[in-house]
Amino acid sequence: MQSIDNLYPITDRMLPREAKETLLGQRGVLLWMTGLSGSGKSTVAIALERELHSRGRLVRLLDGDNVRTGINRGLGFSEEDRRENIRRIAEVSKLFVETGVITIACFVSPTRDLREMARDIVGADDFREIYISTPLEECERRDVKGLYARARRGEVKNFTGISAPFEAPEHPALSLDTSVLAVEESVKRIVELLSL
Ligand code: ADX
Repeated sequence: MQSIDNLYPITDRMLPREAKETLLGQRGVLLWMTGLSGSGKSTVAIALERELHSRGRLVRLLDGDNVRTGINRGLGFSEEDRRENIRRIAEVSKLFVETGVITIACFVSPTRDLREMARDIVGADDFREIYISTPLEECERRDVKGLYARARRGEVKNFTGISAPFEAPEHPALSLDTSVLAVEESVKRIVELLSL
């Protein structure tokens, strides 16, 4: 890796975050949505983005499959690659949060360790963990992408919930089970969490 000895960050001379938040009339925050594939993270996030936008809020949505075909193209699902995936996402999220943007990150982020890393990078004050707690049986029943069936046949390795672990968050700011809550209800609870 490149040495950082000869780098001179200009962070202290850049316009501060507060100036941007004042311009936007909002505070930057990262909503970190974790949960199994097919749990409903993206569906809730898409509806939330529209709701916040209609309330005059500037939002950026970062989503697994998008990021993995762009900035994180080439990363797979080994422990090491998931770590690099989440590290880069957290760094990118931080840039948005520091610009005053309400940032929604939808990633399986299956272990406590990974989510802790994201929290450490962004800073606990700006980080809200939202657990989309839809049970595995329901995610597998939906199988929107057909990946659970393929994972059961052994065609997809390290598939979260089947052949790779998922550790539920211990103290999420919110826990939402989309098998019992309507999308609008989940959105409402997140808006309440943000006190908007
Ligand atoms: S994470 O574990 O590194 O946080 P991420 O959210 O970026 O995962 O990507 C998860 C998405 O990739 C899933 O929704 C699913 O569509 C797809 N995917 C493909 N292979 C796997 C796998 N082995 N485990 C989990 N998700 C996978």
